[in-house]
Amino acid sequence: MEQVTWNRRQWGFLVGCLGAILLVFLLAGSGYHVNTTSRRFLEGVKGQKSIEVKQYTDTHDQLVMVDNGIVQVNFSIPDGHVLGISYNGIPDILDHHNVREDRGYWDVVWNKPKSERIFERIAGANFTIITQNEYQVELSFSKIWDTSLSGKSVALNIDKRYVLRSGNSGYYSYAVFERLEGWPEEEIDQIRIVYKLQSDKFRYMALSDERQRIMPTMDDRVNGQPLAFPEAVLLTNPADSQLKGEVDDKYQYSSKTENNKVHGWISNNPPVGFWIITPSNEFRIAGPTKQELTSHAGPIALSMFVSCHYAGKDVAMLFEEGEPWKKVFGPIFVYLNSASSQNNPGQLWENAKEQMLSEVSSWPYKFTQSKDFLSSDQRGTVAGQLLVHDRYIDEKLMHAKSAYVGLAAPGEVGSWQRESKGYQFWTQADEQGRFIIKNILPGNYNLYAWVPGFIGDYKNDSKITVSPGGEVQMDVLVYEPPRLGPTLWEIGIPDRSAEEFYVPDPYPNLINKLYKNQSTEKFRQYGLWARYADLYREHDLTYVINTSDYRKDWFYAHVSRNINDQKYEPATWKILFDLKSVNNNGNYTLRLALASANEANLEVRFNDVKAQVAHLRTGVIGRENAIARHGIHGLYWFYSIGVGSDVLQVGKNIIYLTQTRSKNPFQGVMYDYLRFEGPPN
Ligand SMILES: *[C@@H]1O[C@H](CO)[C@@H](O)[C@H](O)[C@H]1NC(C)=O
Ligand SMILES: *[C@@H]1O[C@H](CO)[C@@H](O)[C@H](O)[C@H]1NC(C)=O
Ligand SMILES: *[C@@H]1O[C@H](CO)[C@@H](O)[C@H](O)[C@H]1NC(C)=O
Ligand SMILES: *[C@@H]1O[C@H](CO)[C@@H](O)[C@H](O)[C@H]1NC(C)=O
Ligand SMILES: *[C@@H]1O[C@H](CO)[C@@H](O)[C@H](O)[C@H]1NC(C)=O
Ligand SMILES: *[C@@H]1O[C@H](CO)[C@@H](O)[C@H](O)[C@H]1NC(C)=O
Repeated sequence: MEQVTWNRRQWGFLVGCLGAILLVFLLAGSGYHVNTTSRRFLEGVKGQKSIEVKQYTDTHDQLVMVDNGIVQVNFSIPDGHVLGISYNGIPDILDHHNVREDRGYWDVVWNKPKSERIFERIAGANFTIITQNEYQVELSFSKIWDTSLSGKSVALNIDKRYVLRSGNSGYYSYAVFERLEGWPEEEIDQIRIVYKLQSDKFRYMALSDERQRIMPTMDDRVNGQPLAFPEAVLLTNPADSQLKGEVDDKYQYSSKTENNKVHGWISNNPPVGFWIITPSNEFRIAGPTKQELTSHAGPIALSMFVSCHYAGKDVAMLFEEGEPWKKVFGPIFVYLNSASSQNNPGQLWENAKEQMLSEVSSWPYKFTQSKDFLSSDQRGTVAGQLLVHDRYIDEKLMHAKSAYVGLAAPGEVGSWQRESKGYQFWTQADEQGRFIIKNILPGNYNLYAWVPGFIGDYKNDSKITVSPGGEVQMDVLVYEPPRLGPTLWEIGIPDRSAEEFYVPDPYPNLINKLYKNQSTEKFRQYGLWARYADLYREHDLTYVINTSDYRKDWFYAHVSRNINDQKYEPATWKILFDLKSVNNNGNYTLRLALASANEANLEVRFNDVKAQVAHLRTGVIGRENAIARHGIHGLYWFYSIGVGSDVLQVGKNIIYLTQTRSKNPFQGVMYDYLRFEGPPN
């Protein structure tokens, strides 16, 4: 009998054909018609279009062009900036008016101790073709640091990689960052990828099902009127008169890391989309609640890896002298798609979401050539179940339903939200609190969690070691949230956000129409902080337990009060509550959770607003700027205040919350949740 042996190519062909047939079925089944992208995908698999790589040199330009028959991308040699992208008849997706290093690039913001911050585009010094075959091309643009570059270039070895694959409508980008022993102390604030698109084509931006719109241009911004922060501009004279009178601010388009998987831009003619797809959050900093910029007017699309947005310097990467470090950022996928008809951005958005899901399901990628990017068999798994015990809610153990459970560098309770050097791996538990975290890179971690509906942070004290292919099954874990006595009253929902509180309507002359719809993140409107002084003109906010409703009567941010043009004064909020009796056999406890703080000092007093010694004085905390940047939360701050029965009285009691700093309107806090507990029973 004849032995039939199949080589890799034949297998590839078979698998490709089956895949293609399946794809056609899926697309037919979903009612989605097979557009040019899919048809070209079939051609790519058949090998009719192999990937072309061509180097060009002329007087001022050295570049390499890679063309897989679907997209053509030019990279500068040896820096590795993206000079141009051609797709579906658009010769330049990127803005060709910009200089070559200002179209598609990686950058770093860094400084030496006590020195100025430096913005540096990451330029390779050494160009190498790592792989070139009919299925895949991988390029490397790397730079090696040495002491002669001290102070001039960030002390990092960087290897930027780009991967184009046959049949793919886009390309992958990732980079390996490394510091070696003996290198100098330095601080890194920001690492990201930036794409600047052709402005006469890309006018429509999409971040989520609800958050998509026609955007102003850079010229519209320049012709507009700057508002309190330079990023915010009132569009007084936009080319598209429909946008006149709206506010534009890139921070209105931020997303939480957990939701930031696909965003980008759409051109109407021809109908084409440009998308940044982030299939994993493992390389992003500070856990799933960190907010980042996405896309914004320019048109610009970002892939943010490291930044201090909504968290402040607390999340910057500080490297001590001699501290070695290595991390892989990405791969992210730059995806291009096209539609059959114009004026149908929904079709391109839906297709981009499908592509995102497909990238997520193929994570971790198998095709990357860097030994530093580990495949799934080199990674491990941690599984378990988290329960909650709070006897004042239920004597029995409760399931930590939808808990956020994550692995991050060993540290203090809650340290993950300021952790920025390592990898983090998060998931959300199911209804029973069960969780399984897959594809964890080998290393030592702590397991952290927080449970929506409960205060505080969970951490398991055991060090968890994940090994390649290893599976760690945790015992049933029990979180005991802070609790000393029964709830006498509470304000808000413990969910690390101020979204449930009163978010006012914006000034009618300062709106972003995207957020006019009440069901869409109203807190992202500009200038809401200033509404406090309008609403509480004579007296500061007073909240009466059992009468007030936090959804209407608790302003979303405790800011200073504007008394005239440039003058602000501290605001003292009052919580009024009655006690039928005072129990002298134990202490009362006030739980105070903040969703954000910005250069704030919060003081809490009971029944005597003039008391010399406050029951709590936070000291100056937070540089999160979440109020000015329309984020409804920044970092989580948690305080427990013991209250002796001697300061309480039968009948009416008052808690005074004073935010003492009032240099500008952005100093303040956002509350997450307050709870007053009686003595233990
Ligand atoms: C890439 O560079 C080549 C040579 O300069 C040029 O012909 C081609 O149009 C460029 N492609 C893109 C997408 O910029
Ligand atoms: C350039 O890269 C190649 C391949 O990684 C390496 O062998 C070579 O040493 C590098 N050259 C420099 C100057 O970094
Ligand atoms: C932490 O996890 C280990 C391993 O599953 C478990 O044995 C231990 O009980 C946990 N610790 C706590 C305080 O839950
Ligand atoms: C508001 O948004 C919801 C959800 O996206 C949508 O169903 C509704 O039609 C929108 N309403 C208006 C007035 O745009
Ligand atoms: C709030 O109302 C409930 C029900 O009437 C009552 O039991 C409780 O004591 C009241 N609490 C306060 C702080 O007034
Ligand atoms: C109440 O708190 C004070 C101050 O923290 C402490 O000294 C005292 O022992 C506490 N009393 C009771 C009954 O727990």
